[in-house]
Amino acid sequence: MTVLKTFITAVVGIFSAATSANAIMNGVGKLPVMGYNAWNAFACNVNETLILQTAQYMKEYGLLDVGYNHVNLDDCWAMKNRSATGEVISDTIRFPSMNNLTDQLHALGFYAGIYSDSGWFTCAGYPGSFMHEEQDAMTFQSWGFDFLKYDNCAIPFDDIIREGITGKYHRMVDALAVVAEKTGTTFVFSLCEWGWNQVWLWGAHMSHSWRIDDDIAPHWKSLTSIINSASFITQATNHYGRNDLDMLEIGNGDLSYDEAKSHFTAWALVKAPLLIGTNLATISQEMLSILKNQEIIAINQDPVHGTSISPFRWGINPDWTYNATHPAQYWSGPSENGTVFMLINTLSQPADMFFNLTESPWIRAGIQYSVRDLWTHTDNGTAVRSFTAMSVPAHGVVVLLLKEDGNEPAGLMPPCAGEALSQCTAEDGTRYS
Ligand code: GAL
Repeated sequence: MTVLKTFITAVVGIFSAATSANAIMNGVGKLPVMGYNAWNAFACNVNETLILQTAQYMKEYGLLDVGYNHVNLDDCWAMKNRSATGEVISDTIRFPSMNNLTDQLHALGFYAGIYSDSGWFTCAGYPGSFMHEEQDAMTFQSWGFDFLKYDNCAIPFDDIIREGITGKYHRMVDALAVVAEKTGTTFVFSLCEWGWNQVWLWGAHMSHSWRIDDDIAPHWKSLTSIINSASFITQATNHYGRNDLDMLEIGNGDLSYDEAKSHFTAWALVKAPLLIGTNLATISQEMLSILKNQEIIAINQDPVHGTSISPFRWGINPDWTYNATHPAQYWSGPSENGTVFMLINTLSQPADMFFNLTESPWIRAGIQYSVRDLWTHTDNGTAVRSFTAMSVPAHGVVVLLLKEDGNEPAGLMPPCAGEALSQCTAEDGTRYS
């Protein structure tokens, strides 16, 4: 781990010396970060012991082994006041030594994340980094952190800031670039801006990820609302920069097993960061098994395709309809190993879900496909032209990986499948009808 980190730091250090701040930020975080964030389970009730215990659970439960290799603090780690020289100070009782904390996290095999704010104060009222950007970035570096989540509370008055929102966030990007130049340390930088000011248009110029919506809550209604927001902006995501749908609430609140599976699937396949927000001391084996679905994690971490899945049909609603209760239901995208399909049943009763293969732009006409179910982990035969998932549970999901499996049988009628039928034409110009 240390060797790897030194190597990455060295490479990025060399890279950064000759490039702009934007390029530095783009030089890290090719794939979505996976790990833990302490906010949703513990809010301000955090301390060093709890964080280290969580890291132990991550190791013990095999979460580190499947890729969850960050442990990130959120708000409330600081003292309310800075030092006489303006340094931010960690809470002397709850976080007596940040260096000790990051040393121990690194020794366990994790990267360590910290949190600050682009305004005067964090959302819980601790010191923000506005006008202290470089000083704080140096402090976080000297404490051994690798990741920084940067929030949007306590925005300074216009006649002080004299910046747009991109400028406000770029102040920290510039500070991190200075730190990289001085020390060779590069942070993964994550914007928390709640989808204000079309962050998906500019977030990629400066960060690994950007929150697209309000704070998630552990209820189905919150999930569908976030999925609905994501459905319209999937193009923003790629390697090095991505929509952040907020933390994983697997095992929290009133989410059922089927709802939790839908939650994990959607977050993983839109290539969002996968940050667990559950108390691991009480999580059930059933919920843990959702977080550890390696076939779905492999799509989130695809080194070849960084793009998100996108809806090819909204389903209950006409295409492109904004509906926070019934978002788009039929999604697909490319992956290293085939075309992935996600079907979400937003109804409160089971439903059969049908699609023509060529509704997905990633599918080749005239080819048949082998079908793998990434939740049952079974091969489910061959799909020719269409597929129907029978009895998808209420609020449940089906994830399929389709691989080319030779030409479809000869002589199938009609000669063109799906939407192509309306333009289906023989070489001599005869229209099929
Ligand atoms: C919110 C943010 C949450 C959490 C919280 C801490 O703005 O969306 O994810 O970081 O602040 O106070």
